Amino acid sequence: MMANGQKIPATMTAIAISQPGGPRVLKPETRDVPVPGPGEVLIRVHAAGVNRPDVQQRKGAYPPPPGASDLLGLEASGEIAALGDEISRWRIGDRVCALTPGGGYAEYVKVHAGSVLPLPAGFTHSEAAAVPENYFTVWHNVFERGGLKKGETLLVHGGSSGIGTTAIQLASAFGATVITTAGSKEKCDACLKLGADRAVNYREEDFVAAVKDATGGKGADVILDMVGGDYVGRNYDAAAVEGRIVQIAVQAGAVASADFSKVMVKRLTHTGSTLRPRTVEFKAAIAAALEAQVWPLLGTRKVAPVMDMIFPLTEAWRAHERMEEGEHIGKIVLDVE
Ligand SMILES: NC(=O)c1ccc[n+]([C@@H]2O[C@H](COP(=O)([O-])OP(=O)(O)OC[C@H]3O[C@@H](n4cnc5c(N)ncnc54)[C@H](OP(=O)(O)O)[C@@H]3O)[C@@H](O)[C@H]2O)c1
Repeated sequence: MMANGQKIPATMTAIAISQPGGPRVLKPETRDVPVPGPGEVLIRVHAAGVNRPDVQQRKGAYPPPPGASDLLGLEASGEIAALGDEISRWRIGDRVCALTPGGGYAEYVKVHAGSVLPLPAGFTHSEAAAVPENYFTVWHNVFERGGLKKGETLLVHGGSSGIGTTAIQLASAFGATVITTAGSKEKCDACLKLGADRAVNYREEDFVAAVKDATGGKGADVILDMVGGDYVGRNYDAAAVEGRIVQIAVQAGAVASADFSKVMVKRLTHTGSTLRPRTVEFKAAIAAALEAQVWPLLGTRKVAPVMDMIFPLTEAWRAHERMEEGEHIGKIVLDVE
């Protein structure tokens, strides 16, 4: 294949899961460079974001959806290297970032054109690779599904995570009050710097009491929860009347016992979603909303990904170790050299 005068090689280095297990099962492998089909583009990857679902997939607990690459990597940045049929917006050489259905941990990735966005103004590739997965997820779950509005209060659990740091910044930029939980003073301090109005160290303080205290007894209008387990019932306690609780993960357990009378009495909505299996049309609609409403904020750095550490692609195992140690604040990224 030829693109932009440059020959696209037939093969590339990618990080494969040699077998389900710990970080060391991630091994560089030679793979065929993907060929973009109709509606798809090929991106020469400069950087790829690392996300918690990658860790789950590596362990064998989160299989890719049908038709998706078996390689890890839900987001990447780079330049357009080849175009499939029916592409009007993108040109070879465009600097972009994209939500990928898998396959980001590689030198090339193919992706549907609707999941591609321009590199935010002034961003490095490493920063841009840290954007898509968290911004698509937070936009849909906090603003579309949770319906967070200016003047309301958002409670974000896991405030120092990639998702949490994004939710704090976006909710605060759009005029909400933000309360967050995190597991250490250092993480709480980082959340406050990002714009959280209150950060609760959940190891030392009960978040339900803290939310009640911070809201004059009213509770949180929207709760973004990635914990589950006993947080389900406690979220019902922390929610305001007509509150919306959005479940995006269940790290402390998928099965919970809770007092559901609170759902009736407070007229709560408990919803949730997963992003990866959604249609390309759905992802394109989120991309369009982000480009219109959030890209200008990224361009002025009113919001920006919090960068934790960057590792070379071939040392993806170190990135996974870092994530599993749980000390990171914000995003871990892989650079393709
Ligand atoms: N549904 C979707 O569409 C979707 C999309 C992307 C990500 N996710 C999920 O969102 C979560 C965050 O993803 P990420 O990539 O941002 O991961 P991450 O940076 O590794 O963050 C994980 C966070 O979970 C918190 N946590 C874990 N167990 C906890 C517990 N028992 N109690 C309280 N907090 C706990 C950690 O907080 P502390 O360190 O403070 O304990 C940490 O901040 C993951 O669970 C991921 O699977 C969902």
